[in-house]
Amino acid sequence: MRKAVLVTGASSGVGLALCKRLLEEDHELHLCLACRNRSKAEAVRAALLASRPLAEVSIVQVDVSDLQSVFRASRELKQRFQRLDYVYLNAGIMPNPQLNIKALFSGLFSRKVIHMFSTAEGLLTQEDKITADGLQEVFETNVFGHFILIQELAPLLCHSDSPSQLIWTSSRNARKSNFCLEDIQHSRGQEPYSSSKYAVDLLSVAVNRNFNSRGLYSSVVCPGTMVTNMTCGILPPFVWTLLMPIIWLLRFFANAFTLTPYNGTEALVWLFHQKPESLNPLTKYLSATTGFGSNYVMTQKYPEEEILGNSIMDLDEDTAEKFYQSLLELEKHVRATIQKRNHQS
Ligand SMILES: NC(=O)c1ccc[n+]([C@@H]2O[C@H](COP(=O)([O-])OP(=O)(O)OC[C@H]3O[C@@H](n4cnc5c(N)ncnc54)[C@H](OP(=O)(O)O)[C@@H]3O)[C@@H](O)[C@H]2O)c1
Repeated sequence: MRKAVLVTGASSGVGLALCKRLLEEDHELHLCLACRNRSKAEAVRAALLASRPLAEVSIVQVDVSDLQSVFRASRELKQRFQRLDYVYLNAGIMPNPQLNIKALFSGLFSRKVIHMFSTAEGLLTQEDKITADGLQEVFETNVFGHFILIQELAPLLCHSDSPSQLIWTSSRNARKSNFCLEDIQHSRGQEPYSSSKYAVDLLSVAVNRNFNSRGLYSSVVCPGTMVTNMTCGILPPFVWTLLMPIIWLLRFFANAFTLTPYNGTEALVWLFHQKPESLNPLTKYLSATTGFGSNYVMTQKYPEEEILGNSIMDLDEDTAEKFYQSLLELEKHVRATIQKRNHQS
């Protein structure tokens, strides 16, 4: 039996590099590209099949910031697949990022300089907006759309005889200080991206708690800092090129500068080979690259492990469960609203 893998956001960056690497690991995979833009997905499919003709590569069109699209895609997937062995929940946005120049300069001359560059803590704010579903766009794209997708796909994922794995692309920028249980969508703050990634970390812990007994396991990964469409929204590509010599130097002190999507997928590919039952549900997996360019995977356990002298995660299972319950409430509410809307039209 071919293993079946679904990857959201497979059209560029981490998602695209991941698809290429997974097919290098297993030439006979059934890889399903979950993308919002069909023509981009068709081009990726053709390129993947050109190098790996034995693979099966299919496409499902899904916009994770539009719940109707998530429901339609889930129905399609349930018709096409008996089970999914891996789901990479990778699609993500950081809209209109603004660099805080003042924080950058004060950080440059502080002891936290490497930590600041590794995590972008305090450096970036974003402008969020409301989607057609009435939700904050960053929250819906990075968290809630994916949450609904896994809720809908539960029949393909929950098999106690052989486990399935969810692998979320989170970030080192996930900060507890930017997340609040009373405002899970971060509608009142200026760092919705950081909040959404912290929410992903919480959700993964809650999924393990609620679904492990049904054969579904979840892990979170940070791919490191790479030059992709997302980071080219922060600084234009030519600035990244100008900064490269400094970043290569910094790599001798901070391993978070993976720089290319290929390097960034190290932890995502490593997890593909692990028995999910053997993984610690409270661990985050970080792709890392040395000053000499070798890739490896680092682990970061919650809540107390320190990286470069800074405790960068603080997560407890109680908050994770409360957040999960809030998501279930919100799910109930949006399903009722959508049903009412469909009924009226
Ligand atoms: N780049 C970094 O340094 C970095 C660091 C830490 C974490 N990450 C995370 O890595 C993941 C991938 O980002 P990337 O750096 O590879 O950036 P990217 O090249 O911009 O890729 C983002 C992917 O998500 C897709 N996407 C965005 N909104 C979507 C939606 N509403 N529905 C469906 N697909 C959607 C994009 O599709 P289109 O092609 O149609 O736009 C694209 O395929 C994200 O979760 C990001 O937060 C990135």
